[in-house]
Amino acid sequence: MKEKISAIRIQFKSELETLKDSKEVENLKLRFFGKKGVFAELMGLLRECTPEMRPEMGGQINSLKEELSALCDQALEGFHKAELSRRLLEEKIDITLPGRTSFLGKKHPIIQTIDELLEIFKEMGFSVQYGPDVDSDYYNYEGLNFPADHPARDMQDTFYISADQLLRSHTSNTQLRVMEANQPPIRIVAPGTVFRNEDISARSHVFFHQIEGLYIDREVSFADLISTMQEMWNRFFHRNIETRFRPSFFPFVEPGLEVDIRCINCEGKGCRLCKESGWLEVAGAGMVHPEVLKNGGIDPEEYSGYAWGLGIERLAMLRYGVKDIRLFAENDFRFLAGF
Ligand code: DAH
Repeated sequence: MKEKISAIRIQFKSELETLKDSKEVENLKLRFFGKKGVFAELMGLLRECTPEMRPEMGGQINSLKEELSALCDQALEGFHKAELSRRLLEEKIDITLPGRTSFLGKKHPIIQTIDELLEIFKEMGFSVQYGPDVDSDYYNYEGLNFPADHPARDMQDTFYISADQLLRSHTSNTQLRVMEANQPPIRIVAPGTVFRNEDISARSHVFFHQIEGLYIDREVSFADLISTMQEMWNRFFHRNIETRFRPSFFPFVEPGLEVDIRCINCEGKGCRLCKESGWLEVAGAGMVHPEVLKNGGIDPEEYSGYAWGLGIERLAMLRYGVKDIRLFAENDFRFLAGF
């Protein structure tokens, strides 16, 4: 028994000398002082001693235990100190690092563009109205004079929710609602999201934004439409913008127009933005069709009007030089932070 005790002292001390960190000391402690450790075993052997020997041996085991555990504590203290100073060296706080800024929220570039245009229209005497995103076929198509077999009504182009309900494909769905609720003079703009079942690409998306314009009164003429549109481009681009009107077809206007402005990039010389044509298509417009006035409860003999629809993404892309419409829908902070 005595030999065992001194062998354990020697073994422990020589092992302790080889240890490299506090974790290894903890392991050693466990092996010697743990529940199934060397000392527990030793205490078990005590039972085999004669009763006379037991107190002495027990005393020796206990003092060895104290001695060795003091050595452990010493070693641990040493390692802890060394580890702490190493950590302090490694974990130096770099006070030259810039602090973390919190970002101020701001409006999405599309909303910024809409807000800016609405301000312009308000200055020009228009009030703002909103139509629903989910609407009936009547307000989006039929009441606007779209024939039943018009290709735009096709399932391929329009998101139908039921046989009669759909996601509006243009803000023109606001026109009849406003006419039904008001008698002329009507002078409104209606911003909103529109939806089309199109392949998503750099140039087209399944949802985008428009601002509809509608002006109905006595003797509203084509000249009013042209001068109003001319004025709004000048105000939006903060300079004189040459405008061009081309005949086109939309079922709810007669005549219908495609509105172009002189390319804001090359001033008409021809570039990639305008596909060498010198012009940029920016809106659809026209004189409100008499059928549509009638559907809205307005007498076409007494009143006339004009209407237009602008694509907001298109305008924002032109103005900020954005080449991919998808960027507006992806909410990538790196993109949005630039506005
Ligand atoms: N709603 C048409 C579109 O989304 C644009 C448009 C054309 C609106 C002519 C109008 C208009 O009010 O008169 O393509």
